[in-house]
Amino acid sequence: MKKKIIVPRGTADILPEHIYHWQHLERTARECLRCYGFCEMRTPIFEETALFRRSLGQTSDVVNKQLLELASEKESKLALRPEGTASVVRSYIENNLHRSEAISRLFYLGPMFRGERPQKGRLRQFHQIGAEVIGPACVHPYIDAELIALSVSILKDIGLMGFQLKLNTLGSPEDKDRFAILLRKNLEGQRAALCEDCQNRFDRNVFRILDCKHRECRAIVAQIEMGHRYLSPESADYYAQVKEALMQLGVDFEECPQLVRGLDYYTHTVFEISDASLGSQDALGAGGRYNNLVQQLGGAQVDAIGFALGMERILLALPEESLLPKESNLDVYGIALNEASMVKAFVLQAALREEGMATIMHYQLGSLKSQMRAANKSGARFALILGESELERQVVTLKNMSQGGQQEISIAQAPYTALFNAINIKDV
Ligand code: HAM
Repeated sequence: MKKKIIVPRGTADILPEHIYHWQHLERTARECLRCYGFCEMRTPIFEETALFRRSLGQTSDVVNKQLLELASEKESKLALRPEGTASVVRSYIENNLHRSEAISRLFYLGPMFRGERPQKGRLRQFHQIGAEVIGPACVHPYIDAELIALSVSILKDIGLMGFQLKLNTLGSPEDKDRFAILLRKNLEGQRAALCEDCQNRFDRNVFRILDCKHRECRAIVAQIEMGHRYLSPESADYYAQVKEALMQLGVDFEECPQLVRGLDYYTHTVFEISDASLGSQDALGAGGRYNNLVQQLGGAQVDAIGFALGMERILLALPEESLLPKESNLDVYGIALNEASMVKAFVLQAALREEGMATIMHYQLGSLKSQMRAANKSGARFALILGESELERQVVTLKNMSQGGQQEISIAQAPYTALFNAINIKDV
């Protein structure tokens, strides 16, 4: 027997019975994003590998261990995008968006790829809803607070409640350098007790140690008295204003001085939203400021902030009652009882579709009973029945599937929509 080909590890099919949850999430997010003035953009799902190396950081796990590279082209290496921010910034620069508006509010929805070890909530192909605010005029604590409030709104509107927003600031690049020195000083004495990865991270990128999931490393990190000693007065003031603005908007948060995020581009405000019900992969989404990335990638010195939410994790965390019941998309199920009426029904379907109705039919002649069973299963609002007697009189019998009423209508009576709607009343 031939070996069955199955879906690649760490990826998943989204079947019709689940797609409407996804569509509901997409609609909810789009509506929220619209209310905050964001416009959608779409970028390719692969880019030059150098884009990710230069933006996410050579020492980040996403670049070091998880980048899925494609067979290289002659002139450049290509990789599947592990996240959306780098591509949005690349496109922002390439299309000179800073010339057309002082602040660009951009969002995207789509698949991302990371070569991770798959487990519950951690996939190799997953989907993000991301939002980025980029522009020469986009440093203001209200912008940080508004963007964070937007991410929280999307989660609330879809029906999540038990999540937690963690907030921190990394300060300016100079503050970040001071933070790194401080961390090394605090960790130096215990360097040998850190895991092998963290021992390497100590010199290369000490912040990564704060993210380490190893129990020994977490215990060591937990003992460090973090505070915000590395912050300049200006950075401390900015952070205080972001917190104040969040309080004004009624957004609950918890300060978390150990939150540093796994990607290199962050400065100042960083945040993460987690949901304990998800187990070890508990981050529903995350984001922060990245005031130097545009310049780092060859653009002007413009500031930016953004976030991305993981769609699979949001759907995993949603309680049963927030999942919408499945609704059929079908208006009409055609039933033909002989060859001649099948031809007529076949053509009639085209007229119904012209009017915007969704209709299918079973192209195999069966008994009325068996075809009615199929019509019922399809969830269509109406069964359109055409047999010998209907054909002779040039009518069809329309049966309202939920209310039970039925009525004959003349085939010549197009357009049909109003006639169909009238049959919502139970008149036999
Ligand atoms: P990130 O923290 O790497 O940030 O990913 C954001 C969210 O994507 C995570 O919180 C999680 O919900 C989801 N996610 C990440 N990896 C996986 C995976 N392997 N399987 C399932 N879900 C996953 C970013 O991607 C940044 N670009 C966010 C950002 C935008 N910062 C500024 N702008």
